[in-house]
Amino acid sequence: MTDVTTRMLDAKDTGINRAAKILRDGGLVAFPTETVYGLGADARNGHAIARIFKAKGRPAFNPLIIHIATLEMAEQIAVFSDAAMRLAAAFWPGPLTLVLPLRPDADLSSLVSAGLPTIGIRLPAHPAAQQLLTAFGGPIAAPSANPSGKISPTTAAHVAAGLSGRIDAILDAGACDVGLESTIIGFDPAPTLLRSGGLPHEAIETCLGTRLTIHTTPETPNAPGQLTSHYAPTAPLRLNVKAKRTGELKLGFGPDDDADLNLSPSGDLIEAAANLFHHLHKLDAQNAIAIAIAPIPNIGLGIAINDRLTRAAAPRP
Ligand code: TXA
Ligand code: MG
Repeated sequence: MTDVTTRMLDAKDTGINRAAKILRDGGLVAFPTETVYGLGADARNGHAIARIFKAKGRPAFNPLIIHIATLEMAEQIAVFSDAAMRLAAAFWPGPLTLVLPLRPDADLSSLVSAGLPTIGIRLPAHPAAQQLLTAFGGPIAAPSANPSGKISPTTAAHVAAGLSGRIDAILDAGACDVGLESTIIGFDPAPTLLRSGGLPHEAIETCLGTRLTIHTTPETPNAPGQLTSHYAPTAPLRLNVKAKRTGELKLGFGPDDDADLNLSPSGDLIEAAANLFHHLHKLDAQNAIAIAIAPIPNIGLGIAINDRLTRAAAPRP
């Protein structure tokens, strides 16, 4: 797939400003962090976030980490407990991601957190990442900048080898120092190691004065149930529905007079992905007996959409 021309930008002022402009325009920019290169998009722009999944060829919507320039910005997006604040004060900027409750007024695309009420957030230490975040002035969502199933890139050349023609630009600042993804800590409510990474978990335990619960999950959860927490609507879902039944609400795709909400009236899968969690939440809030879902073509982003819908429709434990 080659949709776009990928520009190489150097990590000087002009390159940083160009990269920030591309992000503001809803584009995709790979940028260096101290851990690995991330594939960045405006975390408030659902269409841009959907393009991340398309570019990576991810068969499923995993929640993404957002990157912020300051602790103040983080506090506008997530709710910090005392323990979370202690870790942020000790290890930010640095290779530590905190999974925290998402503030209801945070204004992020619901695709970033895959519909979950939590958000993974980190303040990276790499100067080019910090300059980009400051120039952009908002949260940047970024998974590692590799095609799905491939190893994380630690140079701009790795990124280009995997994603050239699928993303708008690569900000080149040489090799990443850490070369390993960030350590991820959640609180449910005890501090829990969700992924080992660049910050040794012993350092975190020393800072908190307690042992961490260890609960690491596979990096790319593909099978149902592999990711610890999934967004699932309260109402049962019925898939591949042409005509809804009495008492059901319908989520449409493509032209559909029967639909109560439509993922994409024009049948655009990027638009559908961007709307998926938001629309499910909205229909679920109306206490219907069931939510009927129109057929979604099982190609491109449709594969990830169908994966998520199939899991949400599966019998609950
Ligand atoms: O070092 C890093 O963390 C790199 C750089 C670019 O910052 N990013 C990165 O992102 O590794 P990604 O998307 O490849 O990995 C994110 C991991 C996934 O395994 C995802 O399941 C988990 O973080 N995650 C994100 N938000 C979460 C949440 N709300 N709850 C549970 N897990 C979450
Ligand atoms: Mg990754």
